[in-house]
Amino acid sequence: MACLSYQTCALMSSSSSSTPKTQSRTCHLRVRANTVVAGASSKKTSGLRRLNAVAETAAMEVAELKKGIAELYDESSGLWEDIWGDHMHHGFYDPNADVSVSAPDHRAAQIRMIDEVLRFAGISEEAPIRGPKNVVDVGCGIGGSSRYLAGRYGANCKGITLSPVQAERANALADAQGLANKASFQVADALDQPFPDGQFDLVWSMESGEHMPDKAKFVNELVRVAAPGATIILVTWCHRDLGASEKALKPEEKRLLDKICNAFYLPAWCSTADYVQLLQSLSLQDIKAEDWSPYVAPFWPAVIRSALTWKGFTSLLRSGTKTIKGALAMPLMIQGFKKDLIKYSVITCRKPE
Ligand SMILES: C[S@@+](CC[C@H](N)C(=O)[O-])C[C@H]1O[C@@H](n2cnc3c(N)ncnc32)[C@H](O)[C@@H]1O
Repeated sequence: MACLSYQTCALMSSSSSSTPKTQSRTCHLRVRANTVVAGASSKKTSGLRRLNAVAETAAMEVAELKKGIAELYDESSGLWEDIWGDHMHHGFYDPNADVSVSAPDHRAAQIRMIDEVLRFAGISEEAPIRGPKNVVDVGCGIGGSSRYLAGRYGANCKGITLSPVQAERANALADAQGLANKASFQVADALDQPFPDGQFDLVWSMESGEHMPDKAKFVNELVRVAAPGATIILVTWCHRDLGASEKALKPEEKRLLDKICNAFYLPAWCSTADYVQLLQSLSLQDIKAEDWSPYVAPFWPAVIRSALTWKGFTSLLRSGTKTIKGALAMPLMIQGFKKDLIKYSVITCRKPE
């Protein structure tokens, strides 16, 4: 990848018309701001060319990032499903309980995560009347969340992913489970969703936000496709909130995130406070955010243990270089959580009626 280094950079997406000037920080892919274009005769022309060159470089980097993400998931989703099942996200664990190594326990923890997130957002089994009817699953993986929501609430779910292999597998699983009329999946970009405005009463993004190179555009798209009164749920990896006197993370923190970015095809990270600020700027209601890092702590050690079994190890070796690179970076996620640098953020809000 060209340039997936961590950075905290200036303002938000220039394409987000609703961006307020008050927003101070957000995250993009790094662009080479010092690109110099030869042959510009006047200062003005050279400035314009430089801006164009920066935009082109950024567009190329975004295209390269998207390609990398698609290839990573094309390559690794079969292996993940084989060992971990159809949910490609952290489990929710009791922080005080002894965690066993059994696969069914971890799969149950992943379902528990969905249930706890729904409860946090005020949608739960006890209130079926408020259950979602039309759901968009943004960054759907192989569709585990959608099929769960379709099965539990009878919701119509539409999932999007960058990975053609994932979309095909998600549709095949929906078909096999008799849910093809309720859950369907396609390849599409979360930053340019193939849906009209105001279509969904639940906008669900489970661990895909960390891949988005333009958080403002991402959030704007989530809000655009949400119907008036819809619930938006965003579960994502963030870096810690900055202290009042801090302008950026510490150099060693940036270095750690940099390595994780390179392994998992992630652009720059942002904090939970950045997301909350974005949602506030768009006048969303009932904004709630919590750090659930303590509840996910057993997850990465369990994934590493599963990779060290004979089946995990041999499957990993057969999978491909991107998957192996990702696997080697898994201990870095544990380090990031232990250092209080990485936060497992659960964020929800409602679009005004
Ligand atoms: C860690 S997986 C999570 C999958 C799923 N939400 C789950 O919990 O099982 C991340 C997903 O985000 C998707 N993704 C990343 N960037 C995306 C983008 N720009 N547009 C659509 N999907 C994207 C990937 O293709 C992948 O399916």
